[in-house]
Amino acid sequence: MLGFLTLTFNSFAQQNTLPKKINFDEDWRFSLGNASNPSKDFNYKIANIFSKSGKADSTAIDGKFDDSKWRKLAVPHDWAVELPFAKSANADVMAHGYKPIGGLFPETSIGWYRKHFSVSKADSGQRFQIQFDGVFRDAEFWVNGFYLGNNKSGYLGASYDLTDYLNFGKDNVIVVRADASQSEGWFYEGAGIYRHVWLKQKSNSHIADNGVFVHAEVNKNQANVTIETTVENKNLNEDELQVYSYVADRNGKKLNKSTSTAIKLAVNESTVVKQSIALNDVKLWDLDNPYLYKVVSLIMSKGKVVDSVITRYGFRTILMDAEKGFFLNGKHLKIQGTNNHQDHAGLGSALPDAIQYYRIGLLKAFGANAYRTSHNAATPELLEACDSLGMLVLNEQRLLNSSPEYIEQFERLIKRDRNHPSIFLWSIGNEEGMIQKTSVGKRIAQTLLAKQVELDPYRTSTYAADLATEFNGVNEVIPVRGFNYRQFAFGDYHKEHPKQPLIGTEMGSTVTTRGIYVKDSIAGYVPDQDITAPWWASKAETWWKLAAENPYWMGGFIWTGFDYRGEPTPYEWPNINSHFGVMDVCGFPKNIYYYYQSWFTDQDVLHLSPHWNWKGKEGKAIDVWVNTNADNVELFLNGKSLGKKVMPRNSHLQWSVIYKPGTLSAIAYKNGKKLTAKVETTAEAYKIIATPNKTIVMADGQDAVVVNISVVDRRGRTVPTDNHLIHFIPIGDGKIIGVGNGDPSSHEADKFLNGDWQRSLFNGHAQVIIQAGKTNGKIGLAVTADGLEPAQVEVTAK
Ligand code: GAL
Repeated sequence: MLGFLTLTFNSFAQQNTLPKKINFDEDWRFSLGNASNPSKDFNYKIANIFSKSGKADSTAIDGKFDDSKWRKLAVPHDWAVELPFAKSANADVMAHGYKPIGGLFPETSIGWYRKHFSVSKADSGQRFQIQFDGVFRDAEFWVNGFYLGNNKSGYLGASYDLTDYLNFGKDNVIVVRADASQSEGWFYEGAGIYRHVWLKQKSNSHIADNGVFVHAEVNKNQANVTIETTVENKNLNEDELQVYSYVADRNGKKLNKSTSTAIKLAVNESTVVKQSIALNDVKLWDLDNPYLYKVVSLIMSKGKVVDSVITRYGFRTILMDAEKGFFLNGKHLKIQGTNNHQDHAGLGSALPDAIQYYRIGLLKAFGANAYRTSHNAATPELLEACDSLGMLVLNEQRLLNSSPEYIEQFERLIKRDRNHPSIFLWSIGNEEGMIQKTSVGKRIAQTLLAKQVELDPYRTSTYAADLATEFNGVNEVIPVRGFNYRQFAFGDYHKEHPKQPLIGTEMGSTVTTRGIYVKDSIAGYVPDQDITAPWWASKAETWWKLAAENPYWMGGFIWTGFDYRGEPTPYEWPNINSHFGVMDVCGFPKNIYYYYQSWFTDQDVLHLSPHWNWKGKEGKAIDVWVNTNADNVELFLNGKSLGKKVMPRNSHLQWSVIYKPGTLSAIAYKNGKKLTAKVETTAEAYKIIATPNKTIVMADGQDAVVVNISVVDRRGRTVPTDNHLIHFIPIGDGKIIGVGNGDPSSHEADKFLNGDWQRSLFNGHAQVIIQAGKTNGKIGLAVTADGLEPAQVEVTAK
């Protein structure tokens, strides 16, 4: 019988044993290339590099190429967000947020990256692998002049074995050429190595990439865990191995283990070892207590562990019922989801992991419980944040296509992600207008669905259809019918197809600009109230009332949780951003946030809008909105009652108020509990306030802190209408990596590579993101603006 090894989550990486997963984000060199002029593309396509193995002469692929003049940087890096905006009449450029990326911009659409590294002579004999979590896009990879391969997808990563090409004890160079001149989506996508890079060192006999599949049968608090481990032998001779697995709680305490399986693998042979472990008294993974166990898979040779993989795993059950909706662990749960793209203010697509956690935290705060990765594979850290914080995930394939390229992408997506407890449903595609109603679409869907069942029989799939009651095509075969908009059609569809569970894959698409109350088609702003929706879309209240009140709706996903770059709707230039978000690109709430929070949570919500700074509007009527989940509300202007109203469920209240400066206040009662709220006319901005989202950051060169900037008047009241230009100087060993303000028409820079960081406030708010260095101490910001008292913010890096 095998004894337990003492293992902590990272112990393999810390010891000098295998496997090792080394972060490879630092010390890259970067240069733009050129898609139409090979001599400006470092002779790529001039030299005949494919005529001989390892031939790279006179190109940037050559190990000896001098890259000392290239810019030094760390990835994740998105070069698109660094470029100025380019006004263009081209629809694709507009959809991508007016950054000069694509076929019309050959000078800014190719990026080259090089990284020198060394490997110790003592490690020769091991296997080395480079793993890119995401490069946008169509990336070619070389090491020491040897071609490794091409990865078309801008969203699924790629791994390559480097072992045969390495110079042990000498210089090695990885070269990446990313070609972003063809887009994949119709939204901002970024460009470059915008996710992490890893160097993996393994034994020749090892667990395959994404080679552990954990699934469990959960019955009350008992779980039967099955672990399928794919083991492969890359030695030049046969190998005899022992495989076993165990489950530990989140603190690493071992709970139970499998028996050990002996295997004999021929050269290049791989096999799947299936083992099971029974557990009693398991804590279930749910949204409030997302408990994660560790499933540890080990392979041993001659009594020594030669490889191991730790999988964070949560036990939960999911059920989708066509009449009653969705159940998590046997409890009914309405899906209150958001769709999101991956960019954030100031950062483009290259987000530190901490920002993934920040964003999921903000979504949870207004009651969102599910996240759709529209319309592509997310970064692994986003899924880890959802596992850790308790957020369900609808995980989506980029394209409804069953060609080898796309079926392989779907396979990579499922194998990469199927152990995440947060994922409750796959999506095989979105709004494929050319085929969704045809027999071709149906056949493609059937092929993808068969692949999903083969790789993950424990979940099912949906497809996001922009169709009303249409059934022919994809909808005939899809297990869970997804609706993009067309909320009015759920009822009839349900009557016609009473056995198909229904979910709103995209709902709302209400457009609002934070802090704006007057429509401005020149600047491209729409009022910050639930009143404007494009023809296909709806107000928040329209869809949510239906979803909340009809049990056969599993719920729905708002389009979107956050604003994102690209898709400026309903206006074009100067708009460069969408404004579909419940929050803006920084995560500052819009008024619609309080509508959703009222009905998504049982928190006490009482929120008044607009602000009360309306100089020049004295004597004129202003529409006042109240968002609350109280039973009734009484509104007052300067202490005088404007009447009391009963609060209809899943709705809001409105008053028309003749403007007078002062205080607009409300008193509400919720189950007998008194709630109060007010908005006040403020004086001019006097002082800057800088608020970090945490007080301690890790001094690991990766962690990040979000600093939100606002201004107050002399009486300390936040001024919601101020647009001062603010300057930022970093303090200590931290660097600013992006600035934003949520203005969907701002053409201010998000990055200041010269170090002179600045950003205007937009309706009283801006945001700065600081990344920690590696030294312990204080890091922060000095924040100044002409005519305002400055602010200073410091947090501890350790
Ligand atoms: C949908 C589409 C989304 C987004 C949205 C805007 O049709 O699937 O990606 O474009 O509309 O309302």
